[in-house]
Amino acid sequence: MHANYPRDSRTVLTDMVLPSETNPLNNLFGGELLARMDRAASIAARRHSRRITVTASVNHVAFNQSVPVGSVLTVEAAVSRAFKTSMEVYIDVWMEDRFTGEKSKANEAIYTFVAVDDTGRPTVVPPLQPETELEQERFEGALRRKQLSLVLAGKMKPHDATELKALFTE
Ligand SMILES: CC(C)(COP(=O)(O)OP(=O)(O)OC[C@H]1O[C@@H](n2cnc3c(N)ncnc32)[C@H](O)[C@@H]1OP(=O)(O)O)[C@@H](O)C(=O)NCCC(=O)NCCS
Repeated sequence: MHANYPRDSRTVLTDMVLPSETNPLNNLFGGELLARMDRAASIAARRHSRRITVTASVNHVAFNQSVPVGSVLTVEAAVSRAFKTSMEVYIDVWMEDRFTGEKSKANEAIYTFVAVDDTGRPTVVPPLQPETELEQERFEGALRRKQLSLVLAGKMKPHDATELKALFTE
């Protein structure tokens, strides 16, 4: 199986924030942002694997900045590492200034997707080859995040999380 680059899966969704998608402070409702990120990340995972993909876990979400109604929001997702059947997808969210058009980072998140066959059974995905410095950095951290996610889900014993343990012992 030949490797894909993160740019092969890069998915960009741009949309406005409507009043029906906001909280009582007229800022984007968190659940709406999670759904937008899930949609973009799912397409990225599908582009990498060319398979049906399902969300296995949401490993990290940072709601750093509120997003007011009327904002133009861009959700950018790309696979940051592929394992055997699972893929880590990194999502960056940008907000566009309505007067200058300048983009600022609003949020980021990390999701895990699993490629499955028609019966829902996990299936092997192509490897990922990072190209840029940022892609390399995200690639290297992904195994540690996978182990943390598995430990928190009760699917891995902390003792077996070698990458995670190395953080505290090195
Ligand atoms: C995701 C799913 C396919 C995993 O099935 P499973 O029986 O746990 O399969 P496995 O144990 O073989 O795990 C498959 C891969 O997922 C990874 N995985 C499973 N749970 C994970 C978690 N919580 N965090 C990170 N990775 C996880 C495993 O490490 C494995 O990765 P690898 O093959 O790349 O090493 C299954 O749990 C599922 O279908 N869940 C429902 C998905 C869904 O409907 N999502 C939408 C929710 S609304």
